[in-house]
Order: sequence, then structure tokens, then C-alpha cells
Amino acid sequence: MALRPYIVGNWKMNGTRSMLSEARAIDRSSQRLMKVEVAIAPPYTLIHPVHREAEQIGVGAQDCHAEPDGAHTGDISATMVADAGAKFVILGHSERRQEHGEGDDLIRAKCAAALDAGLKLIVCCGESEKLRDAGKAEKFVTGQLKATLPEALDETSERLSVAYEPIWAIGTGRAATVEDIAAMHAAIRKLLVDRYGEEEGGAVRILYGGSVKAENAREILETENVGGALVGGASLTAEGFLGIVAAAAELQDT
Ligand code: 13P
Repeated sequence: MALRPYIVGNWKMNGTRSMLSEARAIDRSSQRLMKVEVAIAPPYTLIHPVHREAEQIGVGAQDCHAEPDGAHTGDISATMVADAGAKFVILGHSERRQEHGEGDDLIRAKCAAALDAGLKLIVCCGESEKLRDAGKAEKFVTGQLKATLPEALDETSERLSVAYEPIWAIGTGRAATVEDIAAMHAAIRKLLVDRYGEEEGGAVRILYGGSVKAENAREILETENVGGALVGGASLTAEGFLGIVAAAAELQDT
């Protein structure tokens, strides 16, 4: 059976305790939209407070270290975010790759650490504008995933989501076209089926991220092989985020 659409808010480095009211509002409204799986990945400092507020929505982290503990000043392990209430972790986001020099090997190691800690994964991929213009986007993105996704995992389709986030679409107001999304998601689906088999690979949710907002959510979410959205800017207010959740719920009714 197909999993519910998955709408995840990535708050990035935004949010102090004053934003808990937004999380609460998102949680309460999501209770009326049970056909959609809703989650927020706040900064580390808010994981436990959001977890305590949340009755319905999932809470996750935006990164974790590849080691479970040790002398790593300033870092946070998968075990720690799980202890704080996180149920999933976003790994391989392009902002981590660009700002912290994260490469495929490290991201693969982080995936393993997160799975060991009992977390679900949202593994990100996405090409630069230069690569897209050069016609190399698909090869690059599938290469990233081949190098970072676990070889095998139990209950794959439940534990893994992939997020396709073209770098040029993040925070620019310029989402990818539905044609480009459909083509890339089809390539990712093929890779998932090759790796995990028809049933499990076919059911993994492939999220799209990059300038998703209430106005364009419907057309993106109804595109083939789109199983949800990873939302940055528009997830920072309950109003903006719930518009996207509502679009996903409406599509479930049609
Ligand atoms: P925006 O929705 O702000 O473009 O961010 C997308 C993103 O990077 C989510 O991880």
C-alpha cells in the first residue's frame, strides 16, 4: 500500500523558543489532516521542546555526527538527537555539503550511524545550475545517491526517504518545472528499484524540495513519483506550511 504523502519542514538555522507556537499550530491542524504525514526538523536546540509539544507531527534533526560519542567538540550524535525525541534525520543537504565540505563518504557513514540509532533517513541530493545547464544533472544526482544510500536496510520504504533538491531552486523562489521534477524522480525511482527491489524500492517516498509553497504545492505533489515535499522558507510559519499540507490532503481526496 502506498505510504501517505510526507510533508517535512526544514527550519534550517531558524527558530528560538518563541517559534514553538508555530510548531504547536502546525501540530494541532495536522491532527485534522491525517491523510498526510507531517514533520518538522527544527534546529538541535528545539528538538526536545518541539517533541514535547507534538501530539501528531514527527520531529527530526537536520544532521548528525557519524560517531555515536567521543571527543568531537560542538558535534551532536544520532543517539543524542534520538534521545531528544527525533525520529528521523535529514542527511546530505546541499548546505551541509557546501558550508561544511561534506562528501558522499561522510554522508554514507552518517546514514549508517543514524540507522544504528533507530532513526529514519531523509537523504538529500541535487545538482548545481552549472551541472543542469551542461545536461549532467541526472548522472550527477544518481551518482550522489549511489554513493550515499545504504546498500540494504530493513523495512526500506518505511525507513528511507530521498529528497531531490536542485541547488538553484533552494530559497530562490524558482522551483523546478514539473517536467524536470518528473524526469529526475523517475531516474531516482529506477535507482531505488534496482537497489532495493520492486516492492520496497517502489514504495520509498521521493520528496521534492526547492521553493515549494502553498501556491505551487499541488502541481508538484501530483507529479508522478513525488511522494511529498521538503520545505524550507515556507515551513517557518504555520500559515505557510499548512497551506502545503492542505494541498497534499486535497490530492488524497481526489
Ligand atoms: P526552500 O523551501 O526555502 O527553497 O528550501 C528548500 C530546502 O532546502 C529544504 O531542505
